[in-house]
Amino acid sequence: MATTIADIEVVPLSNACGAEIRGVDLTKPLDEEAFKKIEAAWFDHLLIVFRGQNISNDDQVRFCRYFGDLEEVRTGKFANEEMRHTMMITNVTDTGFQTALEDGEMWFHSDQCYYEIPCRASTLYAMELPRVGGNTLFANCYAAWEALPGELRKKLAGLKARNIYDYAGNPVTRGDNIDPNAPQYFHPVARTHPATGRKALYVNRLMTDMIEGLPEDESEETLKQLFEHSEKPEFVYEHVWKIGDLVMWDNRCSMHARTHFDPTERRMMRRITVKGEAVS
Ligand code: OGA
Ligand code: MN
Repeated sequence: MATTIADIEVVPLSNACGAEIRGVDLTKPLDEEAFKKIEAAWFDHLLIVFRGQNISNDDQVRFCRYFGDLEEVRTGKFANEEMRHTMMITNVTDTGFQTALEDGEMWFHSDQCYYEIPCRASTLYAMELPRVGGNTLFANCYAAWEALPGELRKKLAGLKARNIYDYAGNPVTRGDNIDPNAPQYFHPVARTHPATGRKALYVNRLMTDMIEGLPEDESEETLKQLFEHSEKPEFVYEHVWKIGDLVMWDNRCSMHARTHFDPTERRMMRRITVKGEAVS
C-alpha cells in the first residue's frame, strides 16, 4: 500500500533548517498527495530526514525519481556498472563498490556548483557509521543572504563567482595548487530558487575562489566575509547520523559540510542525486 498524506508528520529539527518526516516507509511508493506534502516540507525546511529506514538502492532510486530525473555520476565514481546513479560515500573497501569522498572533514560546499547544471537534490542513506563524528552540517543559504546588509546585497546581486573543484585536492584546503583545468563554472553570487522564487547565497568555502569583476583583493576579502557569515551557527543545522537515516537536501538553497571522524572506523553512505536546471 502506498503512503498517503494522513500518514505523514513534519517535525522541524532546528531554527536554521531541517525537518524530520515521520510516518513514511520508503520501501513503499508515495501517492501524489503524500509526495506533494513531502515536497512542500522540503521547500520549507531545505532538507528532510527519514529515520529508521531499511531501503535498497532501488527504493532510494524510486524516492529520488519523484523529485526529477536522476543524475548519472559525472566523475565516473559510481558504485559499479549496474549502479551508475549511485556513489558510495565511504572509506569501506571490502564491498566491491568504488569509493568516493572517503575520509575526514569537508568544508562547506554545494554539490556540483562547478558545473553549468548542478544537481537539484542529493540524498544520503546511512549504512555504516563511525562511533563519533562524520556529522553533516547544513546551512540555510536563504537566511544567510537575507541577513546580509542591504548595501552588500545590492553590490553582489548582479555579480558572478567562479566555482571550481580540484578532485585531487584536499577537501579542507583551497588555493595555490588548484588545477586550472578542473571542472569550473561561473554562477550568480545569489541564485534564485526556481520553485520558491527566493534568493539564496551561492558561494562556498570549498569551491568558490573568486568574484568576477572585482579587484583580486576585494574579491578575496568579500568571499572571506561571506564564508564566515554563512557558516554562523544561527544558519546551521548539524545532523548526527543514525543507521537507516535517509536525508535529502536542496542544493539550490543550502550548503553542507562534514565533521572529522576516525578514519580507522567504517562509514558508508549511499548517495543518489537528482538532476537540476540552469542557474539564474
Ligand atoms: C556529499 C557530501 C557529506 C558527508 O555526499 O555530497 O558532501 O557527510 N557528503 O558524507
Ligand atoms: Mn557534498
